[in-house]
Amino acid sequence: MPYRYVVQIGDEVLRKKSEEVKKFDSELWALLDDMKETVRAEDGAGLAAPQVGVNLRVVVIDLEEGFFEMVNPKILSFKGEQRGEEGCLSVKGKHGVVTRPNKVKAEYRDRHGKKHTVTGTGLFARCMCHEFDHLDGVLYVDRAEVVYDNAPQEAQ
Ligand code: CO
Repeated sequence: MPYRYVVQIGDEVLRKKSEEVKKFDSELWALLDDMKETVRAEDGAGLAAPQVGVNLRVVVIDLEEGFFEMVNPKILSFKGEQRGEEGCLSVKGKHGVVTRPNKVKAEYRDRHGKKHTVTGTGLFARCMCHEFDHLDGVLYVDRAEVVYDNAPQEAQ
């Protein structure tokens, strides 16, 4: 399970609309395994395939609620609003203030192609919105009301 390099803002792979996964095969499983290793090595909450240079609709989320592998995810409904800070492994050294829905219901397929639905609130909802945006070439800085440089002690 090799770590994969996380591409940074400015790379056009982050700006493309990613394609749906059609084959739930060993190539997809290797991508998911590598994304898990990478998001943990980077101490992130989530990672989308374009961030490792692959324009496929694949996301991993690593939070208290558990570790989720989400293939071809889609938001079914959302509710409420939360305003808070956000960062991204592809925009190192910065954070910003973004308003997102507070509750998100989504469907996705697992690595075997089986369909699931999940409802997340708070950070989980924020994380789904952020990661799913990556699949359409959208970065949080596009939605942020303000973006700050991290303080020197937290600069990466
Ligand atoms: Co991100």
